[in-house]
Parts: sequence; C-alpha cells; structure tokens
Amino acid sequence: MDFKVADLSLADYGRTEIGLAEHEMPGLMAMRERYGDSKPLAGARIAGSLHMTIQTAVLIETLVDLGAEVRWASCNIFSTQDHAAAAVVVGREGTVENPQGVPVFAWKGESLEEYWWCTQQILQWPEGAFANMILDDGGDATMLVHLGVDAEKTGVAPALDSAKSVEQRVVFQVLHDSLAADGSRWTTIANEIKGVTEETTTGVLRLYDMMREGSLLFPGINVNDSVTKSKFDNKYGCRHSLIDGINRATDVLIGGKVAVVCGYGDVGKGCAESLRGQGARVIVTEIDPICALQAAMDGYQVSTLDEVLPVADIIITATGNMNVVTVEQMQRMKFQAIVANIGHFDNEIDMAGLENFPGVVRKNVKPQVDVWTFPSNGKGAGTTIIVLSEGRLMNLGNATGHPSFVMSNSFTNQVLAQIELFTKTDEYPTGVYVLPKHLDEEVARLHLSALGVSLTELTADQAAYLGVPVSGPYKSDHYRY
Ligand code: NAI
Repeated sequence: MDFKVADLSLADYGRTEIGLAEHEMPGLMAMRERYGDSKPLAGARIAGSLHMTIQTAVLIETLVDLGAEVRWASCNIFSTQDHAAAAVVVGREGTVENPQGVPVFAWKGESLEEYWWCTQQILQWPEGAFANMILDDGGDATMLVHLGVDAEKTGVAPALDSAKSVEQRVVFQVLHDSLAADGSRWTTIANEIKGVTEETTTGVLRLYDMMREGSLLFPGINVNDSVTKSKFDNKYGCRHSLIDGINRATDVLIGGKVAVVCGYGDVGKGCAESLRGQGARVIVTEIDPICALQAAMDGYQVSTLDEVLPVADIIITATGNMNVVTVEQMQRMKFQAIVANIGHFDNEIDMAGLENFPGVVRKNVKPQVDVWTFPSNGKGAGTTIIVLSEGRLMNLGNATGHPSFVMSNSFTNQVLAQIELFTKTDEYPTGVYVLPKHLDEEVARLHLSALGVSLTELTADQAAYLGVPVSGPYKSDHYRY
C-alpha cells in the first residue's frame, strides 16, 4: 500500500481516540448499521480531501464499511492529526509492520509543494485506475482536476507566467510536472468522476461559480447547505473550537478583552457567542445589512474594523472573503493583539502583505504561533501582533477542530451525499444540488437520543392542519431555521 504520513507508530494512540470518537458519532454508526451489509458504495473509488482528523478517520472507515475504496489527503497544511492519519493507514486489522488500512497522504506541517503533491496522490489508484468520486472540503481536489483539464487543452506555461500567488504557482508547477510525465491524465480523471460532495461554504461558492460560467465538469452535492451541516458544524462547531484554538495558542485571558469578529454568518455567529461566553466584549463587523442587524439584535456592537482597531485585543476573521484584515490595519493594532482566521483560506488576513512588509520581524513562538513586530513608523516603536496558524484556519491549526458529535452531523450528510451521487448518477446531470429535506431531518433524528431528546409527534389532525406529512418533511425548502 502506498501512503505518506508522519509516524506510523502513533497508530495505537490514534486507534484509541477513534474508538472514543465512534461513541460520539451516532449518525456515522447508524450508517454502518444500515448500509454495512448492502454496501451501496461498492465500486466507488473516493478521493477525499478533508482535514485528516480523528473524526475524519471515523468517516473514512464508514465509507470503507459501505464498500468504497478510499484515498485521503488533508485540505489544509496544518490540520492533520498525525495519530489519526497513522491509525487510518494501519487500519483496524493491520499492524505497523503490515498496514492494511487506507492510503493517506497527510501530515501536520506540509509545505505547499507537499500539499499539492498529496492532493494529486488521492486521484490516482495504483495499477492505472483513477478516482470516480471526490469528497472535498474547500474545493481543492475539484479545482486541481478542473485546472488539469484546462492545462491539457491550453498548456500550463502561460498559467505559470500569470500566477497571482505563490500557491497558484505551486499548483501550476504540479500540473506542469504531471503533464510532462503523462499528457492525457486529467481529462481521463474528469471523465471518470461521477461527482463531488463538498463540505464547506467556500468550496460550495467555487462550485456555483463554475456552474454559472458553464465550466463545471461533473455534478456536485452541496453538503454545506444541509441544515444539519451549516447550522450546526459552522456555528456550534466553531463555538467550541475557536476558543480552544485561542487558548492552546496563547493562554491569554479572554474575559474583559475586546474581541472583534469579522463576518456574522454561521461561523461568525458561533465565534461571537463563544467569545461572549468567555466574558469578552464582542464587536462584529459585517457588509450585509441583514447579518449586521442580526448581530445588533443579538446584542453586539456592530462597527467597522477601522473604528475599533485602537481597542481590539482579539481579531477573528470568519467571512470566506479576501483581505478582510489588511497589513495597513495590522500596523495600527494594539500591542500584542491576537489576529486569527477561522474562514477556509489564508487570504482573509493579508499574510502576503505582512510577510513582504519592509522591516517587519517574525519570531516563531511555537508551532502555528508567530509574533510579528513592525518597524518604527517615526512616531515611536512599531506594534507587535500575534498571528495564529500563519493566517490559516486556526481552529484546526492551533487546536483539533470541531468535536466528534457535531462532525457526526456533517459527515452523515457526506455519506448520504456520496451514496446519492454514486448510486443515482443518472438523476444528477452536471449541476449543484442539496440533499432532500427528508434526509436532513433524518440526520438530525439520528442524533437526538444521544442527547436525551424526546421529540413531540404530530397528530394526524395537526399534520393535516399544517399541511405536512406526519413523518415529515416538516418545513418547506425555503424555511431558514
Ligand atoms: P457565511 O456566508 O454564512 O458568512 C460569512 C459572512 O461574512 C457573511 O455574512 C458576509 O456578509 C460576511 N462578510 C463578507 N465579507 C466581509 C467583510 N469584508 N467584512 C465583514 N464581513 C464580511 O459563511 P460561513 O458558513 O459563516 O463560513 C465562513 C467561512 O468559514 C468560509 O470560508 C467557510 O468555508 C469557513 N468555515 C470554516 C470552518 C472551520 O471549522 N474553520 C467551519 C465551517 C466553515
């Protein structure tokens, strides 16, 4: 078996934590119970690009139990939990000397070159076979296939010349090298792929963009917008893991501090609530009047970042947008202000601008924590700020991401979406879809008893009065929760 992880001897530790996580992931366990015998994913070759954590290990082994062959990479250079990766490679039956699990290509602290090499490895099977399904988080695996097909048509040299960032250059270099090795691969991969199931807001945006421009090559299921994903993982998951990341990185008391949350979508709502829970005075920034009004009615001050920079101790970006915190703003921050991003990509904070700022000094405190000191601007010493995870998503870089129970909701949607696309391919022409509401309700239902929830049942009269079936779905598709 081919694989590349940090240290296989961590497998035992990983296996023990996977065992603990399984108990907290009733949705995935129910999938194993329900589909373990019928194996609806037999024949599926799933290329997974999603943070290689303990929770993801439970997802991977669920996909395997349902019949799939799987290869996995992480979707972020810092998010892999090395013990989880090792345990998945060794597998439930294997040993460190004789691993029998799933090929994983992921370790904490990859370089960009290594990251894109890993992403490439998940798409090709030994003996010349290719993936026929993608399970993506942020859309990097999907993007690589699309760029590969483009590069095959037009050549990669012009793209290399026009690359706008270091990362883009690395991607094009990977394509350049792979095309030099075997010129016809990417179109073959794209033709094999039946579809992609996409985990997060940012990846879903990319899918809808490609669909609008007519460049999307295969169908996608938008898992993010299952209610039991975005209204749970994005919100309650970040409510847990934002604070976890700040504490592990800095150990600074949050109570009494002024914390700014940029963006009051699902992620921002969870972040603001958790910071308030710690006793911070929370200020929200927004560009959308509806979300700004929501934040105000939830009791937060809503301002612009420029207005509150002089008082802000902690600044968190949660927008999925670019350049939300500029290097010019970083220079005006308080001494030792903490700056961190919980959105998907590292361009929310202008890290490129910070790295290239003349005279700025970076001191690494410990992995994923850096202190940056600006030079004097002629009016006294330059300020010092603390940046987490190099501007990449800090809840997975500085902590261990969301806990198992909330990920069970997200990943049960992923499993259902994979089954849906793989077994009913003909019903999904190229386009972007969400799972039907009855499945969303089913995911929630699978998680109720673990929390001791007793659900009230509709009577037949009440159901008729509301105009819904007794067994659901209970809401129309446009209901917003
Ligand atoms: P969302 O679309 O619900 O919320 C983003 C909010 O940011 C919107 O309300 C938007 O109006 C606002 N916004 C955009 N530009 C802004 C600006 N310049 N200043 C202030 N506000 C601005 O998206 P969601 O689901 O909250 O996701 C946000 C990001 O977090 C995405 O990149 C998503 O992929 C990522 N994500 C990260 C997770 C993690 O574990 N770290 C979990 C789930 C999502």
